[in-house]
Amino acid sequence: MAGLEGSSLLEVRDLSVRFRTRDGVVQAVSNLSFTLERGETLGVVGESGSGKSVTSLAIMGLLNRNFADITGEILFEGRDLLKLSPAELRKVRGKDVSMIFQDPFACLHPMYRVGSQIAEAVRAHSDVSKSVANARAVELLDAVGIPNAAVRARDYPHQFSGGMRQRAMIAMALVHNPAVLIADEPTTALDVTVQAQIVELIDKVKRDFNVGVMLITHDLGVVAETASHVLVMYGGRAMEYGPSYEIFHAAQHPYAWGLLESMPRVDRKLDVLIPIEGSPPSLLNPPPGCPFNPRCKYRFDVCDKQSPKLVQLPGGHLDSCFLSAERKQAEWRDKVSEEIAQ
Ligand SMILES: Nc1ncnc2c1ncn2[C@@H]1O[C@H](COP(=O)(O)OP(=O)(O)OP(=O)(O)O)[C@@H](O)[C@H]1O
Ligand SMILES: [Mg+2]
Repeated sequence: MAGLEGSSLLEVRDLSVRFRTRDGVVQAVSNLSFTLERGETLGVVGESGSGKSVTSLAIMGLLNRNFADITGEILFEGRDLLKLSPAELRKVRGKDVSMIFQDPFACLHPMYRVGSQIAEAVRAHSDVSKSVANARAVELLDAVGIPNAAVRARDYPHQFSGGMRQRAMIAMALVHNPAVLIADEPTTALDVTVQAQIVELIDKVKRDFNVGVMLITHDLGVVAETASHVLVMYGGRAMEYGPSYEIFHAAQHPYAWGLLESMPRVDRKLDVLIPIEGSPPSLLNPPPGCPFNPRCKYRFDVCDKQSPKLVQLPGGHLDSCFLSAERKQAEWRDKVSEEIAQ
């Protein structure tokens, strides 16, 4: 996770985000910490409302500070993005840290040709001629797998298929060779075969451009395939965090178990999928103690009284649960052997 020397590419430390709303304070993110290095993919998973998008918007500096109280640190190569002026932040956003969204129309204007929009983005941060910018746009469209890029660059967004628009948006995000690429549910709106292509493209971009990718997704299969590290979020908090292999092979948190048990897999019959009962908490009135306690089968007396801290486990990754390490290991062993028996 953290680099051996010097500062990490991106280090989020003790991040909390509170929204002041008419109904009260929404505690969207609480005491969240993680790191991301170049060439790594951090998969961020968790049910709806767990704070994944708010975290990415905080990193991008896209939350309105008049309504959002943000505390903690978001260190990009050691520099705290939360302390930058709006002008300084604009230089970082889109340049060092870039984002792709679920909806390509969020960043492609329907009335302008795809190529010229990318070329404009090139010129926004670097002083190059129109023809150099156009050539760069074609190069990027080619890099993200748009066939016949020089010709297709002259198309309008509606002339692109959904998958091609997503590719164009990724090209747009790559304009300034970002170091961090945040992808928030980049494939949800696409059909399954195109989803797989976009996931593959993001993975290729990570390697070719040596970026650190923060991939927010509901699809644990995608995380298992591409992420080097996994952050499991619930109720605005980190429930479990560590190398992907450990999360998938030695998960320690009852919420992570729940997510894994509800994950469809080729080697698992559909009737074995076990959904997590109940629904995520309102962050306007979160339950006391561990946010997962009202739904947790393993809850005991302390769980609704104190909030567990994210602590290092003997296995090396971090989890936030009061169950003892021995109990967790025993439960996990039982789950794995049940699975094998089926
Ligand atoms: N601008 C806002 N004002 C008030 N509350 C907000 C605002 N933005 C998000 N929230 C709340 O913050 C919490 C976390 O939301 P967030 O969008 O980060 O969830 P998410 O994990 O991205 O969910 P999903 O998987 O559905 O995209 C939710 O309870 C949401 O209602
Ligand atoms: Mg979201």
